[in-house]
Amino acid sequence: MADRTLSNLLREDRRFPPPAALAQQANVTAAAYDEAAADPEAFWAAQAARLDWAEPWTDVLDWSRAPFARWFTGGRLNVAENCLDRHVRAGLGDRVAFHWEGEPGDTRTLTYAELTDEVSRAANALLALGVRAGDRVAIYMPMIPETVVAMLACARIGAPHTVVFGGFSAEALRGRIQDCDARVVVTADGGYRKGAASALKPAVDEALEQCPDVRSVLVVRRTGQDVGWTEGRDVWWHDLVAAQSAEHTPEAFDSEHPLYIMYTSGTTARPKGILHTTGGYLTQVAWSHWAVFDVKPEHDVYWTAADIGWVTGHSYIVYGPLANGVTSVLYEGTPDTPHQGRWWEIVQKYKVTILYCAPTAIRTFMKWGDAIPADFDLSSLRLLGSVGEPINPEAWVWYRRAIGGDRTPVVDTWWQTETGAHMISPLPGVSTCKPGSALRALPGVSAEVVDDQGEPVPNGSGGYLVLTRPWPSMLRTIWGDEQRYVDTYWSRFPGRYFAGDGAKKDEDGDIWLLGRVDDVMNVSGHRISTTEVESALVSHPLVAEAAVVGAADPTTGQGIVAFVILRGDAAAEGGQEDPAAGLRAHVGREIGPIARPRQILVVAELPKTRSGKIMRRLLRDIAENRELGDVTTLTDSSVMDAIKERLPDAP
Ligand code: WTA
Repeated sequence: MADRTLSNLLREDRRFPPPAALAQQANVTAAAYDEAAADPEAFWAAQAARLDWAEPWTDVLDWSRAPFARWFTGGRLNVAENCLDRHVRAGLGDRVAFHWEGEPGDTRTLTYAELTDEVSRAANALLALGVRAGDRVAIYMPMIPETVVAMLACARIGAPHTVVFGGFSAEALRGRIQDCDARVVVTADGGYRKGAASALKPAVDEALEQCPDVRSVLVVRRTGQDVGWTEGRDVWWHDLVAAQSAEHTPEAFDSEHPLYIMYTSGTTARPKGILHTTGGYLTQVAWSHWAVFDVKPEHDVYWTAADIGWVTGHSYIVYGPLANGVTSVLYEGTPDTPHQGRWWEIVQKYKVTILYCAPTAIRTFMKWGDAIPADFDLSSLRLLGSVGEPINPEAWVWYRRAIGGDRTPVVDTWWQTETGAHMISPLPGVSTCKPGSALRALPGVSAEVVDDQGEPVPNGSGGYLVLTRPWPSMLRTIWGDEQRYVDTYWSRFPGRYFAGDGAKKDEDGDIWLLGRVDDVMNVSGHRISTTEVESALVSHPLVAEAAVVGAADPTTGQGIVAFVILRGDAAAEGGQEDPAAGLRAHVGREIGPIARPRQILVVAELPKTRSGKIMRRLLRDIAENRELGDVTTLTDSSVMDAIKERLPDAP
């Protein structure tokens, strides 16, 4: 019966208009589209005016050195001041900024006043460590309040942070520290994941063996586990930060002052340091958070269930919600610790009204079954959001029904590390939602779907997603590599930003995202490049050659499948032992556990074109057990037969 209901809902013409009550009180109405289209710069100037500026800007946008944009030129502001002090001054100091929930069940509540004090102390601590405006600080932390504090303390003193996801390896951390030349690292002994203390400090110690320029490591005690200690370099947070004054006067920085660098996978093995700056970024994250989630700061309890180590956490756990003075939930651990209802217990406990998460989580909850959320009171929820990968209509409908009680709009938000903020998304008080579609570009944003020649496709057709106009929270460059910035984003279709995603326009002109068109995989909403995993595999002494593809996966969106050719001597000795486990562990060490291949297939040859390019499309077909496409460009089509023989039965 449930199946029939679902398939009914899945009819393509299902439409979900906004609930009347929400539409009546919505922060943003349909007029915003016209207003923004008439004069996008005036629209963004109006949104920037929602922030406190110490110095007004002279120009809204300087695009004279395109594609290098400058927004709100001449304006000066302090991001932390806008996220904290300004609310305290407005009498909101007692409002809760974060309800933090540790995985073991310990909790902390931080009001805006408390967070302001803590950030001021941490800012003074960073200054005491010699950090100055412009210096980079690496942050490698679990999901604890100090992570937010450290980021805001950096913003407060104008030191760009680079937060490295705690699930990344020592090797990944080293690469990022070196790329942006960070001299100070903020970390913790560890954090709680899956019911146990998981260490972080050893990875820092290992990474720093090759980062001699890092002079200080500020360490939060979270788990109490033993840590190695380097005298003169390592300092406890509770010693240094607690000893500081809670007075710190924030300095206003130029609108284009760097705010942070977030590394993300591209099509080569080397991650790209995406640079975000101050005024435009804060303007657009604050506006989009307010508009897309229709937040009412006096009433809402908002929860982005994502890691702060990703851009979603930066924009919609830290900067957007705090700029809007909203109360948020911050949860340290995994969804099934200690039981599979943990998220729903948190929603019930804090009366969460808005929940934002990734389709991979939704599909996992679907798999666990309706009975689990049904045990909790989820009636506080009024709006749901999805991010990170295409959401299949089945998951969308389930999310709305089993979590949203068939009441809540679901906003499917398309954006990227590079865009900084939501770009294509429904507006909950305006849009009639279609399960599986992000609908249309937000007010002030211009998106198009184009063909190979860069011509807009007609409704009903697919192509490449491009953004046709600069936007305030756009990346400014790739750290240290302006040419790569131009080549990656602005060269495929000159004058337009190439997102790397395929998309289709339906008969109404609404946009459906179809996934990446480049060699970037999306595993559980995490971007991982095929070449990054390939080079990790090839760095193992057993491996001569590797080809990696993302194969469709019912839970994680894509799963990583690697085809490897072993070195001659290794292959000769082989047979007795399956090398796959060792190789998976190796990739985990090189990049991080999220990059470990789902399957590793040892093959004798790889399918290549006559020019020697690996035919990933064919490998993907094999990995997904599809009928093979045209193989005539292969140098030797028997290669495919040989590969197929090595393939285990379909999962
Ligand atoms: C994908 C995450 C479909 C897309 C915020 C994009 C999506 C990449 C959606 C960026 C969505 C993100 N529908 N696909 N709503 N949101 N993506 O940089 O392929 O980690 O290019 O940013 O995720 O991933 P990133």
